Amino acid sequence: MSGGIAAYKAVEVCRRLVDAGAHVSPVLTRAATRFVGELTFSALASEPARTSLWGNDEPIPHTRLGQGADLVVVAPATARLIGAYAAGISSDLLTATLLATRAPVLLAPAMHTEMWEHPAVVDNIATLRRRGVHLVGPDAGRLAGGDLGYGRLAAPEAIVDAATALLAPSRNDTRGLQALVTAGGTREPIDAVRYIGNRSSGKQGHAIASELASRGADVLLVTASELPGPPGVEVERVETAAEMHAAVTRAAAERDLVVMSAAVADFRPKVTVAGKLKKADGVPEVILEQTPDILAELGATRRPGQILVGFAAEALGPGAQPEERLREFAEGKLRAKRADLIVANDVSAPGVGFAHDTNAVLIVTADGYHVPVPLADKGAIAAAVVDAALAYGSRRSSPPGR
Ligand code: PMT
Repeated sequence: MSGGIAAYKAVEVCRRLVDAGAHVSPVLTRAATRFVGELTFSALASEPARTSLWGNDEPIPHTRLGQGADLVVVAPATARLIGAYAAGISSDLLTATLLATRAPVLLAPAMHTEMWEHPAVVDNIATLRRRGVHLVGPDAGRLAGGDLGYGRLAAPEAIVDAATALLAPSRNDTRGLQALVTAGGTREPIDAVRYIGNRSSGKQGHAIASELASRGADVLLVTASELPGPPGVEVERVETAAEMHAAVTRAAAERDLVVMSAAVADFRPKVTVAGKLKKADGVPEVILEQTPDILAELGATRRPGQILVGFAAEALGPGAQPEERLREFAEGKLRAKRADLIVANDVSAPGVGFAHDTNAVLIVTADGYHVPVPLADKGAIAAAVVDAALAYGSRRSSPPGR
């Protein structure tokens, strides 16, 4: 823990980690002890809390702690801690332990929005990400002093989930893969306050980004959702179809795998009115125009070897043979957009598609495979999508008979 008001939430993180079976060695900076007592951690954790490099019963605590750890979690990670760690400065037990470990490191930043967005902090975070440091949060919400904005410590359960995912034996089967994932629903402004949107929460796309990262891929997530970015994933936030188009077009050529799970608007107002349309001026006429079809563009321009995964959101409603109809729609989109895989979901079925924690999909591939994945949480669906994309890639690189 480093010294921020969010340090009180680290008590809950510590308790949950111990409950999950971890051996937790608490390390607090001096500033952290101003917000929360070391006795609290000594009572809850697996060994007494430590706050200093000096005066301990052991001469070099940082090497024992750093070398012995399977994972180092810093929650909260303040701007100072992040800066010292990025610069390789070890001025206290916590920073010395961070430099003495080869274990994965998970930072849960917490600070005011202005600090989080300061160019120095932005650069330090980029440096640490490049070195493979994992991040969870920060979230948007209420900050110290009643301010609102980005910088709030991720929820204790999210920190523990991220830690658990990092400790789980990884299949590492996407190590070295450069992946791009899109998520969320775009918003197309009518005027300064109104927009045309859709019901996508971003849960499915974020779960795919998280799955890819946990299996070793280098992941860029272009998201229109406000969900926090998954640990170890680079996040670019966008709002409109045009912004998503620009971000995806910039990044796609470098990527081995592109997964378009975002619900991109098909139409947007031709003109965005500056200011707010006044009710007194009568019912406005909003003329729509088509947005660029990002997936179709990628299908037409991609480099050989890239795997392109699209989604298809269909609302089949009641009727016979839903799986056949879903497959026909999916195969139509596969051809029209020149994708390698289409992940089709019937968003009119219970628990399926927009905003639910669960989904059910039919994955169709350009080489004729159909993989139905029954109702499961979006993490399990993400794993099935990644498995199907990797299997397609290996079939393509070594076709039968070679
Ligand atoms: O976000 P959640 O709440 O978790 O919900 C998940 C989901 C329902 C959004 C997801 O499972 C899903 O179905 N995503 C695709 C939604 C969609 O826009 O489907 P579509 O059939 O309209 O589009 C087909 C494909 O073309 C999609 O890959 C889409 O990203 C892409 N597209 C669409 C329009 C456009 N202008 N550009 C595109 O690239």
